[in-house]
Amino acid sequence: MSIQNKSHSNEEFAIRPEQPADYRAVEELTREAFWNEYKPGCDEHYYIHVMRDHPDFIPQLAFVMTHGGRIAANIMYLRSWLEDENGIRKETLSFGPISVHPDYQRRGLGKRIMSHSFAAARAMGYDVVVIFGNPENYVTSGFRSSKHFNVCLEGGIFPTALLVHELTEGALDGRRYIYRESDCFAPLEDRAAFEAFEATFPPKEAGWQPSQEKFWIYSHSSIR
Ligand SMILES: CC(C)(COP(=O)(O)OP(=O)(O)OC[C@H]1O[C@@H](n2cnc3c(N)ncnc32)[C@H](O)[C@@H]1OP(=O)(O)O)[C@@H](O)C(=O)NCCC(=O)NCCS
Repeated sequence: MSIQNKSHSNEEFAIRPEQPADYRAVEELTREAFWNEYKPGCDEHYYIHVMRDHPDFIPQLAFVMTHGGRIAANIMYLRSWLEDENGIRKETLSFGPISVHPDYQRRGLGKRIMSHSFAAARAMGYDVVVIFGNPENYVTSGFRSSKHFNVCLEGGIFPTALLVHELTEGALDGRRYIYRESDCFAPLEDRAAFEAFEATFPPKEAGWQPSQEKFWIYSHSSIR
């Protein structure tokens, strides 16, 4: 891992499983990492708050990376599925949110915690990870467009942001699969519950930044 900022270079970065005592710190980290990234403010810290109680959440694949006692990064997974044309489902993994604190971004921590989690996922018998994400962040960690694997959404749509990583090469055999997400995030329509949760954090100014337009473009485009 390349740690280019000298102020971060003297102490060890370590990855360990997330513990209940980490939950609030991970929510704070997530809020810092996502704030204004994809929209003014963010919801992702509330997602993970809800996600931990859902049966599709996989606690064995929730990891934190620490630096001198501080949580610098984390990753969390949900079960997902690929459904073939006969309705037969293959269980897969989907991660997200993944967060690296802004003080540590673009120094290889994201790649390192992903790689650690992939090894743990392989050991559990999983062979495919499917995510929605900005390809710029993930192609160097083995993700490719879903189009290469014939994995699409209902209606044969291959979103630009739908990315697939085979943990075991050849895990997918080219047959058409439809990606099925967990329903974990369905309760998040409850804005009052979100606002009550958000009010437990220090106030932070929401605003526009260019990454929001990049996200809009990626999330509204598909591969032909
Ligand atoms: C997205 C995120 C998890 C990536 O983690 P990171 O530690 O910052 O990224 P890394 O340093 O590991 O870099 C991963 C890849 O991103 C790309 N990347 C890194 N720095 C980059 C930069 N300045 N500009 C563009 N791409 C860059 C590269 O492809 C890099 O791989 P490489 O080093 O092999 O070339 C982190 O930036 C983050 O938390 N962002 C805010 C929250 C978010 O967007 N989460 C993901 C959505 S679920």
